[in-house]
Amino acid sequence: MGANNSKIRRKSSENNYQILSTEQLSATSPGETDTNKFKYIEGRRFHNWPDIHYDLPNDEVEIDRLHLEHFLIRDVWQSNFSSPIHEQLLSGCNALDVGCGPGAWCLDMATTYKNSKFYGLDISPIFPTEIKPKNTIFQECQILDGIPHKDQTFDFCHMRFMFPSFDENQWRTYVIKEVGRVLKSGGYLEISEYKLCENCGPVLKRLLDLRSEMMTNIGRNPNIASLLGEFMGDTELFEEINYDEKIIETGSWGGKLGEVARDDIFTRMHAIKPALMNHIKYSGLGITSEDYDRMMSQCIDEFNEYKTYFVTCRWYGKKL
Ligand SMILES: C[S@@+](CC[C@H](N)C(=O)[O-])C[C@H]1O[C@@H](n2cnc3c(N)ncnc32)[C@H](O)[C@@H]1O
Repeated sequence: MGANNSKIRRKSSENNYQILSTEQLSATSPGETDTNKFKYIEGRRFHNWPDIHYDLPNDEVEIDRLHLEHFLIRDVWQSNFSSPIHEQLLSGCNALDVGCGPGAWCLDMATTYKNSKFYGLDISPIFPTEIKPKNTIFQECQILDGIPHKDQTFDFCHMRFMFPSFDENQWRTYVIKEVGRVLKSGGYLEISEYKLCENCGPVLKRLLDLRSEMMTNIGRNPNIASLLGEFMGDTELFEEINYDEKIIETGSWGGKLGEVARDDIFTRMHAIKPALMNHIKYSGLGITSEDYDRMMSQCIDEFNEYKTYFVTCRWYGKKL
């Protein structure tokens, strides 16, 4: 057993967390473990909210990945947002980050825009609670139960990489409307996602296809990033819906940024491994854990060989 696992065990006895194997997870009915904040699968820590299908971990490895990804994305865009909201943020306004994770975006923004207040919401309490800028407020919350703020509270609402969090119907009929509700008239909503991968090698394509298949099985639309502008339009809450995209050259062929992007993808593939192995097992695909690790390593070589790149996009619109 590695150091990581023994650490998790220690935490487990101290905090009464539960360690579940993949088999135990699939045998667990909703609500059966909801007295515990977290659950553990194959050495990774996950949220334990009933009825939420978000399948990425929330442990230290994932927290580090999300922090690193924040700076990668900021470098790719050369900015933290595209909405024309800079002046308002400078003079002081309220901003909300929905699904803030460890709070990297809020913390970075709060340091730049000291007169504004940044509120972060997430199901996992992985954001800082004590050592943080004064103008940040984080709260544990399940968005699908409603955002715990009054109508028209925020000048800017931001959401990033929430694709695995909601199914297509939730995006279409609830999530954007609910975020729109807490946005002030004249305020901006901005949603940022990964859109697609181009020039994939065969092994990466296989892994991405498996991921899409698994997501489709639980109602997620792997092409949701392309539809978000349409969903924003459907709410009839926004004018001026804008779209922009950037490519992220992945692998050392893309220079230093490409290497960071490669490491991010590699860590993300590790992060989705428990969920994907579960899908692989129940689909009878015969890919073992060792096969999966081998495929991940092969992807690293493919990035340079095929000149793989990912496309990331931002949708943003002004509330009427
Ligand atoms: C891929 S992470 C992105 C985090 C952050 N937005 C960023 O860009 O670094 C998605 C986050 O959404 C959170 N999340 C998933 N479903 C949620 C829900 N129903 N309500 C609130 N947060 C949720 C997860 O806990 C996770 O921290």
